[in-house]
Amino acid sequence: MNEAKHQTQSSRVSGYLHFMREFVRHPRQIGAICPSSPVLARRIASLVPPGDGLVLELGPGGGAVTSALLRHGVAAADLVLIERSEPLVAQLARRFPGVALIHGDAAHLAGYAQLRARPLRAIVSSLPLRSLPRPLVRRILAQVAEVSAPGTRFIQFSYALHAVDALPAHGFERDKACLVWRNLPPARVESYRDMRGAA
Ligand SMILES: C[S@@+](CC[C@H](N)C(=O)[O-])C[C@H]1O[C@@H](n2cnc3c(N)ncnc32)[C@H](O)[C@@H]1O
Repeated sequence: MNEAKHQTQSSRVSGYLHFMREFVRHPRQIGAICPSSPVLARRIASLVPPGDGLVLELGPGGGAVTSALLRHGVAAADLVLIERSEPLVAQLARRFPGVALIHGDAAHLAGYAQLRARPLRAIVSSLPLRSLPRPLVRRILAQVAEVSAPGTRFIQFSYALHAVDALPAHGFERDKACLVWRNLPPARVESYRDMRGAA
């Protein structure tokens, strides 16, 4: 095995181990029994439109979706990660040294200067909206609406096989949804478009 491949595999394993340790400590905040599969991560990344603007990832965890976003072609300089767990932030910083990383809370998005520098092309969320407390979920979705701009795509996955209401605000429209069976457990991916201001 060549050196680069070996490094990729060992950072993936390290991401997995950190994720599982955090799941044991904070199951509701992590909200998943294991990281997203490569199939799910690729499906999510494929919904990010090409073009200018930042791509914001909420809850990158061990980095499964982050890695797929970079492979999909999102430039490291266009990607911003926000993660609440300190141990996961430390391992993300080691694994993705060129990517902007905020140790913070998705319930306070509008307060982060990095997100005001350029418009957002997409917001990719792996936040466990079904296991977080409802008032926190409402605050997070309101913040998504606050930092989003007309045309921004908001992508959310969940383990519900029926649609989960993750509409950030009036004026967002669901434009895509699919089921991904090759994940533990199977997942539903939904994508919304910020149509506020559209004629
Ligand atoms: C289901 S895991 C997803 C991890 C990874 N993206 C994946 O798909 O494998 C959810 C992640 O969201 C993080 N998280 C939960 N609440 C958060 C919040 N309010 N702000 C930022 N991150 C949060 C958790 O710490 C965890 O890393």
